[in-house]
Amino acid sequence: MSSKIKFQTPSGMHDILEEDFVYFDKILDAVKEIANFYHFQRIETPILENAEIFIRGIGLNTDVVEKEMFVFKTKGGDVLTLRPEGTAPIARAFIQHSMQNLPQPVKLWYFGPFFRYERPQLGRHRQFWQFGFETVGEKDPILDAQIIQIFYSILQELKISPVVVKINSIGDRFCRPYYKKVLKSYLISKKESLCADCRRRIVQNPLRVLDCKEEKCQRIVAEAPNILDYLCEECKKHFKEVLEALEELKLPYQLDSKLVRGLDYYTKTVFEIVEESEKGKALGALVGGGRYDGLIKSLGGKETPAVGGAGGVERIVALLKDKFPHLAKKGKKPILFFAQLGPLAKKKALVLLETFRKEKIPVFESLGKDSLKAQLRLASKVNAKYALILGQKEVIEGNIILRDMMTGTQEIIPLEKLIKVIKNKIK
Ligand code: HAM
Repeated sequence: MSSKIKFQTPSGMHDILEEDFVYFDKILDAVKEIANFYHFQRIETPILENAEIFIRGIGLNTDVVEKEMFVFKTKGGDVLTLRPEGTAPIARAFIQHSMQNLPQPVKLWYFGPFFRYERPQLGRHRQFWQFGFETVGEKDPILDAQIIQIFYSILQELKISPVVVKINSIGDRFCRPYYKKVLKSYLISKKESLCADCRRRIVQNPLRVLDCKEEKCQRIVAEAPNILDYLCEECKKHFKEVLEALEELKLPYQLDSKLVRGLDYYTKTVFEIVEESEKGKALGALVGGGRYDGLIKSLGGKETPAVGGAGGVERIVALLKDKFPHLAKKGKKPILFFAQLGPLAKKKALVLLETFRKEKIPVFESLGKDSLKAQLRLASKVNAKYALILGQKEVIEGNIILRDMMTGTQEIIPLEKLIKVIKNKIK
């Protein structure tokens, strides 16, 4: 008895097929255009990084580091991980390439795959693509607003709407510890009513209790002390200026004092952008980001303020597919089909196709087929306007047949005039 093996992509990971690339490319084009306008430089860091970068950068007690990293030991004994996000690698690259010596801020963007061992569900994959923008080296609140506006504009360009920007400030290393203390004692007083995860979080990372999705925790969180009441003067001023800039831009935002984000490197501003339809809400945030003034120092660099964000490509693709289902079908129609008959013509066809390529004339071909009937059937199927037919006789005589696929009329063209004739026909 033979059992058939049926290999599949690993759980939570997907092949990206041609019909998906239409949407991926649309997003990449919008990202590139905005990156060019605002003079962000492209960067692509390795898929694998030293795991320590994320442990120090994102924080040991975060879900990403605690549960979601694909970590392994190399034969040489290094502990590497598939990158779960792009900001810590950017900070590593900033230090490694002494970017502090460049004119500041250094503005970088990226578009690539990331990996998190999460429970696969709608909008949550184990391999997913992000595009990110990072402005490193300056602390002005106007830069926080500019980053938010960049992501908002990309979504607008892609006609993703209505969206809302959720924004909060989580303070800095001076004011947050005090807020954490106040929050912790409040949560301890309500400990019995919290979920098991949150009971654990009280000690390790009390801020994360604020964005727990469990209903019973949300009831407790609704009455919790508000972080905005505990900001120091500097954080308060910074946040006020970010909001004023957003108002100037007429960007719709919602204050969300429960928004804390799942990565420990954030200071001051944090934000997420959500599409407000039922599907959008189910998918989760399309974009997330914030300021991270302490990250570069925590990885061994100089004190360097920075702000950035990243958008989830699959989530945006899911919305684009719903909104523009026809995009996937819109490939470029070939005008010309090349059919060949006999071994001599087949070989000659290879050479002629190269000539078409160099002349930038798109041609559809099917070199693996021998039957002329089958080839012409395919020409009709792909809606070609003309078919070129090359047989043994034509090769010997130096001609080729041009067939109008609509009318069925045919003309014989000398090979040396072929390119000129075709260029005239497809003009
Ligand atoms: P993040 O919020 O973890 O932030 O991810 C950013 C976006 O990536 C999310 O809003 C979501 O659209 C998408 N995303 C995250 N996880 C998944 C998943 N498992 N499946 C599908 N999409 C996902 C960061 O990664 C930060 N590095 C953003 C940042 C840049 N902060 C400052 N600079």
